[in-house]
Amino acid sequence: MKQRKKLFRWLDDRTGLVTLIESIAAHPAAPGVKWKYVFGSAVLTAFILQVVTGIGLLTTYVSSTGGAFESLQYITRKAPLGAFLRGMHYWGASMMVILIVTHLLRVFLMGSFKFPRELNWVTGVLLLAATLAMAFCGQIMRWDQNAVFGLVAAAKMAGHVPLIGPWLARFIIGGDVVGSYTLSRIFDMHVFVLPILLVSLIGLHVHLVLRNGVSEPPVPGRGVDPATYRSTYRDMLRRDGVPFWPTVVLRDFVFALCVVLVVLLLAWVVGPARLDNPPDPSLINAQPRPDWYFWWLFALLALLPHALENYFMVLTPLVIGLVLLSVPLVSNRGERHPGRRPLAVAAVVVILSGIAALTVAGWHEDWSPRVHAPPLTANLIGVSSGPVYEGAMVFNKMGCLFCHTIEGHGGKRGPDLTEIADELTRDQLTLRIMNGAYNMPVFGRILSTEQTENLLDFLATRKKSGFAIGKKQ
Ligand code: HEC
Repeated sequence: MKQRKKLFRWLDDRTGLVTLIESIAAHPAAPGVKWKYVFGSAVLTAFILQVVTGIGLLTTYVSSTGGAFESLQYITRKAPLGAFLRGMHYWGASMMVILIVTHLLRVFLMGSFKFPRELNWVTGVLLLAATLAMAFCGQIMRWDQNAVFGLVAAAKMAGHVPLIGPWLARFIIGGDVVGSYTLSRIFDMHVFVLPILLVSLIGLHVHLVLRNGVSEPPVPGRGVDPATYRSTYRDMLRRDGVPFWPTVVLRDFVFALCVVLVVLLLAWVVGPARLDNPPDPSLINAQPRPDWYFWWLFALLALLPHALENYFMVLTPLVIGLVLLSVPLVSNRGERHPGRRPLAVAAVVVILSGIAALTVAGWHEDWSPRVHAPPLTANLIGVSSGPVYEGAMVFNKMGCLFCHTIEGHGGKRGPDLTEIADELTRDQLTLRIMNGAYNMPVFGRILSTEQTENLLDFLATRKKSGFAIGKKQ
């Protein structure tokens, strides 16, 4: 007992840490701070879980284009508890995103970002951005078809942005073509750059939370007045404050434990993200699809007209980020209670419903290629031999059908080609097919002259009813 006291005294003398921790434990917290306030510390728990499981994966993951996919297959199938570890890292990431967003909504709805906590909010928004960047890089590190094509699609679109486009595309890919530079850049981001950023931001955020105190639950009609807020807050703490340790900490701890248990359960029962096929250079089967929390953005891009897609690709995240950052600039005083801030509540409802609707659209993925679309049949084609028939077979074989619909058969990624011969001449058709488009592969070098001619013969029959050969009677 005496020895321990001596050790603590020595430690405290040299570092000051014991006093610091004691003062944090003893500081009074705002009363009425109940379960609504547990999300912030739960994010920290999820982050620590990510660090631990991430280090575990790092021991086996190979960050080269030749080895990444195989090393993940090894982790998933052979390594003891490997699938469980990947599952924890995967679900831990989802959990972290959910918790940060919940925390952000709580802080926003309760007006906790107002004076003097404006910078708590700003560092929090930066933490959200860094976490999403982390999640994006993590998905690319699977280095399966999904990951590589997602990256190529992102870089292609970014490349069309005016002025900075080419630079941006090179930055994303780490050069002119996707290759070893790309993966090593993404790896460095995920393992060094972003974690350092995250840890620094978390340190700053926690420091600000301790310095400014946790906001007291809002009372309708009692707004924030910067001139008097700090002294009122201090008086309130002295009068009614509850001890941080153990009251507040205990609640945080119970919730954090639940978070960890849910992650463990999901990792055990559902397991990690499925590994797609290894990357393959033929773009035809490309079906890029990020993890669920990016679906809404993905769906937004897919639903927009192609001309706007490129701008939105970069503008949407940028605008959302700037709007979030400017929240405390717009209003850092006055009413905090959500009941007195109808505009703020309405904004949350509108934005959340929008994101939910887009997420559902992203899930239905009508707009992504349907690789399992049944081939066009002779009945639909109208003939069962000859160039038109051969052309239809090219249409089946080359995956045109995955993206284009003919009389209701096929995918919806590209325009419906049921009546294409009414819209485009043979020359125009040739141009489109040979040169591709934003989301259409270039077929110039894939198709032989004969295949192209047959394909054009087939497409020439796709006209309004009466003329089309293959119209069902
Ligand atoms: C990965 C999906 C995908 C595949 C595979 C694909 N396309 Fe497309 N295609 C598109 C998209 C998307 C567009 C629209 C491009 C644009 O205008 O921005 C398009 C446009 C076209 C157009 C122009 C249509 C119009 O209304 O302007 C034609 C014709 C066409 N494709 C034919 C084909 C043929 C023939 C094949 C097979 C050899 C094929 N496509 C394979 C996605 C695809």
